[in-house]
Parts: sequence; C-alpha cells; structure tokens
Amino acid sequence: MQRIVVLNPKGGSGKTTIAINLASYLAARGQRPVLMDFDPQGSSVRWVKKRQPAQAPIQAIAAFEKDSRTTRAFQLRIPDDATHVIVDTPAAIEPRQLPDMTRDAHKILVPVLPSDIDIHTCSRCIGDLLLVAKIRREENRIGVIANRVRRNTLMYQALIRFLHTLGIPIVAIIRDSQNYVRAAELGIGVHEMKSYVAQQDVEQWGPLVTWLTGAPDSTLSPRSAPPAATGESSGEVPAEGGTEPADAAPQRPAPEGAAQPGAAVPPVDEAVAVEEVSAHAVAAQAG
Ligand SMILES: Nc1ncnc2c1ncn2[C@@H]1O[C@H](COP(=O)(O)OP(=O)(O)OP(=O)(O)O)[C@@H](O)[C@H]1O
Ligand SMILES: [Mg+2]
Repeated sequence: MQRIVVLNPKGGSGKTTIAINLASYLAARGQRPVLMDFDPQGSSVRWVKKRQPAQAPIQAIAAFEKDSRTTRAFQLRIPDDATHVIVDTPAAIEPRQLPDMTRDAHKILVPVLPSDIDIHTCSRCIGDLLLVAKIRREENRIGVIANRVRRNTLMYQALIRFLHTLGIPIVAIIRDSQNYVRAAELGIGVHEMKSYVAQQDVEQWGPLVTWLTGAPDSTLSPRSAPPAATGESSGEVPAEGGTEPADAAPQRPAPEGAAQPGAAVPPVDEAVAVEEVSAHAVAAQAG
C-alpha cells in the first residue's frame, strides 16, 4: 500500500484538487484508494459523498473528526484491500506537525501556485520538510506540482526557475482549467470526464503518475499532435454530458501577469528564496 501526502500550508494551493483527482485516477484504474481528510473543512469527504454508486469506489476517512466513541486507531483504520492512502492536509499546518504527518509517506506532493506569495510559502514548506521533517532529497519523496499554470506568464517562468533552484523535482504541471472546478462539483475527477472534454488535463497527469508508480501509463500519453493553439487556456469547457450553455466555449482571456513590453521580471529572486529556505528551516529546527 502506498501512502501519498498532499501538503502545503498555503490555503488554496490545490491540495484537495490534487488529492481527489489522484483518487479518481486510481479508482478509475481499478485500484482501491482511500482519501484521508485531515482538513476540518472536510472537502475531500464531501466530494466522496457526492459520488454515485455506479462510480468506482473511493473510501473516505474523516480524520479531522474527534470521535470520543471510538479510539483514534479505529477511526483511522485503513481497509485491508486499500492500495493507496491519499492524505489531504489542512492549510496552515505548522512545521512541528510535519514529522508526524510525513513519517510513513512514500511520496509527498506539494502543489504550488504561480504567485509571488505562494512561491515564498512553498520555499518555507520545502525547507521545513527537509530540515524539520528530516526528509533527504536523495529519498526522492518530495515532488512539487505547479498548479493552475498559465504558461505564457512571467510568474510561471519565475515559478519554474525557482523550483529548479530547490533541487526538488517538478512532477507535474497542471493548467488552470474549469474542468477541475466542474469535476469537483460532480464528485468526479478529470479522469472520469469524457475524454474529448478533459483530454488535455488528463495528459498532464502522466509525469506525476510515472513519478508515483515508477512506470508510465500509456493511457495518459498525448494522443497525437495537440490541437493547434489550444495551449494553456483557462477557458471553460463543457462538463460530462455536454450540458453547457453556448457561452461556455473555450475563452482565452489575457493571461494574468502576461509580459508587457518593458515589464519587469516578477520580484522572485531564487538565490534569496533558497537562502530563506535554509534560514527559516534552521530557525524552525532550533525552536
Ligand atoms: N488546476 C486548477 N484549475 C482550476 N481551478 C483549480 C485548480 N486547482 C484548484 N482549483 C480551484 O482552486 C480552489 C482551491 O483549490 P483547493 O481547494 O484544491 O485548494 P486547497 O489547497 O485544498 O485549499 P485549502 O488550503 O483551503 O484546503 C478550488 O476552488 C479549486 O476548484
Ligand atoms: Mg483543501
């Protein structure tokens, strides 16, 4: 059984989105994933409750609940047939909680958004994982997911440069796509949407699956040449069933932070960020 922890203390970075879509992918492949939700908001548990009986089963454990009628071990028990446990963690998790949260994790996924604030929070989080939770880079347990990416933005380029400097692999680049929002509402993942709707999103999970399992999944490979210039649009697409109104056709708004002539590169200095990682983590360790 593989235990995968999704964490980033920054709220809204995509932890639940990654956790539920990974569970959706595994369930759709006949695996038996369990979603363990440590977030009192209970978003992962709510998503599982929306699933229909015909859909591939995913069990949810409300680990955030304090149940005085049972022991903690009983509350958190994993079914014998579980193949994966995916742990969805809350925002604002503290460095001192990281060792416990990550101790048995085979893989730790850190989703990060391409924004200055998120990049700096991510640098702290990685630092804490390395120095407080004592995870060594060579273990290859930590993988960063660049989430809600719009490629043609300066912030995206800053994010990718920054992630390279950390020496932690970027295991997926996930675009900003309304499919994730729509799927979450329906209790499904992009892997359970019709392929003509979500093909581009599904393909972006290929590198992540390869990193997690050690083997590529050919069903996630790009089918052929991608459709011309559909690129990293954040446009809306019809959900499964195609009941969308006509105005839901792909739109291509000007990308946020798009390069303007003469615009300054976003103020993300990788050298400073890496120093911050070390300084912060050493301080956290000492405290
Ligand atoms: N790739 C994406 N494309 C579009 N929307 C996204 C994407 N990833 C996440 N979102 C949306 O961003 C919002 C925040 O995502 P999510 O709830 O997964 O973050 P989180 O890290 O779990 O937040 P919290 O810290 O509050 O638990 C949600 O509305 C989600 O649907
Ligand atoms: Mg969440």
